[in-house]
Amino acid sequence: MEFPSKLVLLFLIAILSSTQSQSATSPPAPVPFSPAPAPAPTSPYVNLTDLLSVAGPFHEFLGYLQSTKVIDTFQNQANNTHQGITLFVPKDSAFRALNKPPLPSLSNVSADQLKQIMLFHALPRFYSLADFDKLSQKNPVSTFAGSGQFALNFTYTNGLIRIDSGWSQTKLSSAVHSTNPVAIYQVDKVLLPEAVFGADIPPMPAPAPAPEKAASQAPDADSPSADATSGKGGKGSGDSTSSAGSAGLGLLSKLVVACGGVMMLLL
Ligand SMILES: *[C@@H]1O[C@H](CO)[C@@H](O)[C@H](O)[C@H]1NC(C)=O
Ligand SMILES: *[C@@H]1O[C@H](CO)[C@@H](O)[C@H](O)[C@H]1NC(C)=O
Ligand SMILES: *[C@@H]1O[C@H](CO)[C@@H](O)[C@H](O)[C@H]1NC(C)=O
Ligand SMILES: *[C@@H]1O[C@H](CO)[C@@H](O)[C@H](O)[C@H]1NC(C)=O
Repeated sequence: MEFPSKLVLLFLIAILSSTQSQSATSPPAPVPFSPAPAPAPTSPYVNLTDLLSVAGPFHEFLGYLQSTKVIDTFQNQANNTHQGITLFVPKDSAFRALNKPPLPSLSNVSADQLKQIMLFHALPRFYSLADFDKLSQKNPVSTFAGSGQFALNFTYTNGLIRIDSGWSQTKLSSAVHSTNPVAIYQVDKVLLPEAVFGADIPPMPAPAPAPEKAASQAPDADSPSADATSGKGGKGSGDSTSSAGSAGLGLLSKLVVACGGVMMLLL
């Protein structure tokens, strides 16, 4: 009979095209469906002194933390609490900018005040960059130095995080470290609290366009960049999903063609 032989021909073509499509997409050997790799257990201990001496340049800030012994307070918070710590670290160039009026000088403050200024640069909790969206709705935010005139205001706009202490308006310019329980963010200015320098803030000159010679050496991202160590969901997992996806597609196309053949046989 003519009809069935046509069907057999069609079926053969279907089989052929199925093997062709299989070789065309060439799925790799079946990908075992393993659960997403567990995040590598990182050592919870972060040596803040170590981190601040290799990153930066943050030598001025680290020097003040050490001379005031505030480094021990911060390290203790990082070591021994579940809340963790968030540090705002000014670059060395930010300290050089301080001594020019109307900005006050740190050489003129008492030892106690210097300690408070250092404590003012930290929050007694770990905040990832994304957390600042919510945090900015809770202004004013208490710092390690306290509340009231020791509080900071944050604004969050499309990932750009600005800090306002009254005396200092600056932004987070990069993430040095952001893995629970320790977050360290670079800021462009030293944070000056009203509690030390008074609420009577002199008008600040508009930022001149070019006084950033020192800063221009280091390319500063305008918005904070995520720290490499905090990356979640590695490249590996993405790759395995996509290859699993194409393997699935190959199987599907084969099934569709085979079903087509079977249906034609049944006709
Ligand atoms: C932290 O790092 C500093 C600088 O490398 C080192 O002197 C200090 O001993 C370290 N502290 C601890 C507790 O490991
Ligand atoms: C923090 O932990 C490290 C490692 O366990 C320890 O050597 C260091 O003395 C601790 N520092 C503080 C201030 O708790
Ligand atoms: C240092 O303190 C004195 C007394 O409080 C004050 O008169 C002076 O303006 C201060 N100088 C600077 C540079 O802040
Ligand atoms: C921070 O925000 C609070 C409430 O919005 C406001 O009263 C305070 O003046 C602000 N402080 C600074 C330093 O901008």
